[in-house]
Amino acid sequence: MKLFILALSLAALVVADSTCVFTAGGKTFDLTALKKNTGEAWDTIYSTGTDSWHFYFQPCGGNLDSTFTGKFQDCTDKAQLPAACIQIDRYGQCKRVAAATPADTFTTLTTEGNLNLTYGGGAYCMGAAHNRQIHIVLTCNQVAGEPTIREDPAGSCFYTVDWAHPAGCVVPSGGMSFGWIMIIIMLVCFVLYIVGGMAFMKFKKGATGKEIIPNSAFWFGLPGLCWDGMKFLFHLCTFCCRKQGYSSLA
Ligand SMILES: *[C@@H]1O[C@H](CO)[C@@H](O)[C@H](O)[C@H]1NC(C)=O
Repeated sequence: MKLFILALSLAALVVADSTCVFTAGGKTFDLTALKKNTGEAWDTIYSTGTDSWHFYFQPCGGNLDSTFTGKFQDCTDKAQLPAACIQIDRYGQCKRVAAATPADTFTTLTTEGNLNLTYGGGAYCMGAAHNRQIHIVLTCNQVAGEPTIREDPAGSCFYTVDWAHPAGCVVPSGGMSFGWIMIIIMLVCFVLYIVGGMAFMKFKKGATGKEIIPNSAFWFGLPGLCWDGMKFLFHLCTFCCRKQGYSSLA
């Protein structure tokens, strides 16, 4: 029973977390799988001639901020953060490639029908006389590939990340997220448990009245347990407040 409640709350968490969903041209994509842990980002190297840059980006994981770039002095000094994407040259110089989301973020479909996720509002690019932009183009692939980056066209400060990944596959319309499927399975199991349990208690154990509810002691005790828990929390709070009050008086 405890396991059931745990699984139910986990499923609820999954539902609450599946916010990284994008639509373009009537197609839905769930990019949750591209998320990294806080403070981490995808790192892709772009080279041309003898120059090379690291591009850091983090779809779905919030914006890059100083928790990530603390190691790059220049990023904090020049106020390039927070940002959806930054580039660092080989001297450690930092440039914002895309403004913090959700500003300047939009989606389109490529001619092949793939998701093209644009992050704009980057730092001004002198050579091209406009702000930097980055496009993440996902192609549907069963195996998660690594992102690669190119500048398109050359010298434009418009960058395209090509990425073959399951996250690039269209979510079937009317499809449900994993969390919802879990919740429905749980509910079905719960109904089966109650109905099956009642039949078992009635016909096998010969129970009558409210005794036919399986684990009835637990279920009838539950409201009382919740109430006790709330009372406990309340007492804990008042106890702490009072303690604080005393120490500030002393
Ligand atoms: C992605 O979208 C941007 C902005 O609309 C566009 O300039 C770019 O050509 C697109 N890339 C591809 C591969 O379709």
